[in-house]
Amino acid sequence: LNARITVNPRQTIGAVNRRLFGSFVEHLGRSVYDGIYEPGHPAADADGFRTDVIELVKELGVSAIRYPGGNFVSGFRWEDSVGPVADRPRRLDLAWHSTETNEIGLHEFQTWLDKVGSELMLAVNLGTRGTLEALDLLEYANLPGGTALAERRAENGRASAFGVKMWCLGNEMDGPWQLGHRSADDYGKLAAQTARAMRSFDPDLELVVCGSSSATMPTFGEWERVVLTHTYDDVDYISCHAYYEDKGDLPSYLASGVNMDHFIDSVVATADHVKAVRGSDKTINISFDEWNIWYNTRFENVDKIQGVDNWPTAPRLLEDQYSVADAVVFGSLLIALLKHADRVTSASLAQLVNVIAPIMTEPGGPAWKQTTFFPFAATSQHAVGTALDVAVESPTYDTADYGTVPVVDAVATHDETTGAASVYLVNRSTDDEVTVTIDLAPYRRNGADVHATARTLADDDIHAANTLQQPERVQLHANDSVQRDGDTITIVLPAVSWTEILLA
Ligand code: AHR
Repeated sequence: LNARITVNPRQTIGAVNRRLFGSFVEHLGRSVYDGIYEPGHPAADADGFRTDVIELVKELGVSAIRYPGGNFVSGFRWEDSVGPVADRPRRLDLAWHSTETNEIGLHEFQTWLDKVGSELMLAVNLGTRGTLEALDLLEYANLPGGTALAERRAENGRASAFGVKMWCLGNEMDGPWQLGHRSADDYGKLAAQTARAMRSFDPDLELVVCGSSSATMPTFGEWERVVLTHTYDDVDYISCHAYYEDKGDLPSYLASGVNMDHFIDSVVATADHVKAVRGSDKTINISFDEWNIWYNTRFENVDKIQGVDNWPTAPRLLEDQYSVADAVVFGSLLIALLKHADRVTSASLAQLVNVIAPIMTEPGGPAWKQTTFFPFAATSQHAVGTALDVAVESPTYDTADYGTVPVVDAVATHDETTGAASVYLVNRSTDDEVTVTIDLAPYRRNGADVHATARTLADDDIHAANTLQQPERVQLHANDSVQRDGDTITIVLPAVSWTEILLA
């Protein structure tokens, strides 16, 4: 098969916001406890944080991290997680049928963020709590001093404010599983009231209102319209959440990015509809603050933990093991996000460690990279500057779920300051390699020489994974098929593969 793309620095989509490479740490399973935090582990630092995990998070290149949930946040009392650790209450976590020890809270998490070099993005509980508790947390976190709450923060070890910029107004409030689940109308009113109150503290906060928890929700579309009708003037982003899995139809699964494209386009259309109706000149962007591959039916593992006398601490939940095919789809989701860089200006890979995660750990043992680590780390490192529409000309194939879709999907980025460009490509064919011709004429307008290097994720066994036993089974490999001929280069993409080309 053959395909063709053009790298043209003038064919811009939008600036690549660093926040696209965010992630998510929820108090869920072994994400925090036995994940980022394991005092007594040989690699733990003085604060109990695993330094091997810190190094991997840095290598992954994560910008902002959403915290502390997720479903967890809808039953969370933030006050439990600050102050002397010995005084913090153990609490039930109804979302995940677990015990929350509160050993790690806001202060400890910020300490960890300082070590990994990422920014905090906080979610407030609008499920079982309301505007006042959100305001209290905001004041505790962001007021420099002068009130009881700010003084309490100082007594608890942080004299200066946390300065949290980005705030999520609850989590998945459309989901019947959510503690405090509401109708779009009820949630829209509460979110608007809370947003206005938070903005009266600081008008420069960046606020995310909950969109649908997936595009398959029965209220999808209408939820966004109603919620934004209430909140349009008071928020900056609406959230999108999407998880994909292979349900036994690999060709459809490989085309998951097509679904993500449509999802984003639909939410943009709905937001712009509300904008038009209101005659507003403000544009609402998307915070795609949960996206990933997730194999578990939403509550499958949790349903195994039952009983009023059974509330484990940090149980193994949602510990999906990712294959090469999963990483290829994952890479294509990153391509979909970049293709919408003009409107998706923030995104959070859900999640980061142990729970549907690119990084896995074993208690007392090693930490390793899942297959999905590689596309994320490469894209985060190299997708810099402006996203470019590469006008893909590709053969197509038929899928049961998404109709006729292109075999090859691609996007490029261009860093105006260095002149470097990167191209991300996915070959969705299960059988055929594709030779892609890349027209670089517009990129080489000044005739400058271009050096191209490429790395590909592919394997004869598309089900291969990195495991505790074989932590380095799957890696990125140099793609040596790249050939240059004047203004064009060609590259061969193996079947079921994800590729990054760097042009410098
Ligand atoms: O990321 C796992 C869960 O998925 C989150 O807690 C929730 O927001 C979503 O349903």
